[in-house]
Amino acid sequence: MATAIEINNLTVKFGDLVALHDVSLTVEQHEFVVLLGPSGCGKTTMLSVLANLLTPAGGEAKLHRFADGGKGKNFGYVFQQAALLPWFSVMKNITLGLAAIGTPKAEAERIAQEYINLLNLTGFEKAYPHQLSGGMQQRVGLARALAIDPEVLLMDEPFGALDAQTRVLLQEELLRIWERDRKTVLFVTHSIEEAVLLADRVVVLTARPGVVKAIVDIDVPRPRSTRDVQAAARFAELEAELWGLVRDEAVKALNV
Ligand SMILES: Nc1ncnc2c1ncn2[C@@H]1O[C@H](COP(=O)(O)OP(=O)(O)OP(=O)(O)O)[C@@H](O)[C@H]1O
Ligand SMILES: [Mg+2]
Repeated sequence: MATAIEINNLTVKFGDLVALHDVSLTVEQHEFVVLLGPSGCGKTTMLSVLANLLTPAGGEAKLHRFADGGKGKNFGYVFQQAALLPWFSVMKNITLGLAAIGTPKAEAERIAQEYINLLNLTGFEKAYPHQLSGGMQQRVGLARALAIDPEVLLMDEPFGALDAQTRVLLQEELLRIWERDRKTVLFVTHSIEEAVLLADRVVVLTARPGVVKAIVDIDVPRPRSTRDVQAAARFAELEAELWGLVRDEAVKALNV
């Protein structure tokens, strides 16, 4: 398998504060990897370096290109808050990213419509973000990231701000879409249950400065559903193992 994301000895500093220290991680193409770690351990920082929004103090973080010939659509970014442009419609929020990579207008609208339908937003093409619920806004954010057909999806706690029921439904939508396309995903969450439901591998980071503490294989067959999480004994074991790893770090993070 080809390597999609390669992080080598990555160190990131903000002044004297070391956010990440000597982190190395490889994500294979079509793999779903979850980053789990306490608040402030550098998860968003890691995604920001991958998205070229931050320059590291040491090491490197690279996204490899495969099919796109270098046209700049190799990653989509889903933010914790949907970060939609409030003065643009749902359709326009999604087509903007396509326009940015040179997709002609009619084609961009056709593709946007496809993702609007896929994410059950049909009928809301002309709505503005303030007319949507939080869950719908998050789905527009996901549609926007998927519409450019990226090779890698960087997702920073995309469902963190949602109520429990909406969250479960969006996790299921994401699983359904992922089963279809098998994009490479690097997904940040604080939820152990969400990590076990979604991931092929879970990377546990220590409290700041973030260092890779453990990598846990989620050896549960796919397709998965939230009902499996509640039912399967293996899920419970994995959750207990991850909680054991994360707990100490969460305590340390509270005491800094
Ligand atoms: N732009 C910045 N300037 C200064 N310090 C920053 C900046 N961005 C992040 N930091 C610091 O770097 C550390 C890591 O921040 P980061 O946002 O990556 O954490 P995180 O793991 O995403 O946390 P959370 O789970 O709360 O989102 C924190 O201590 C934070 O205060
Ligand atoms: Mg963060």
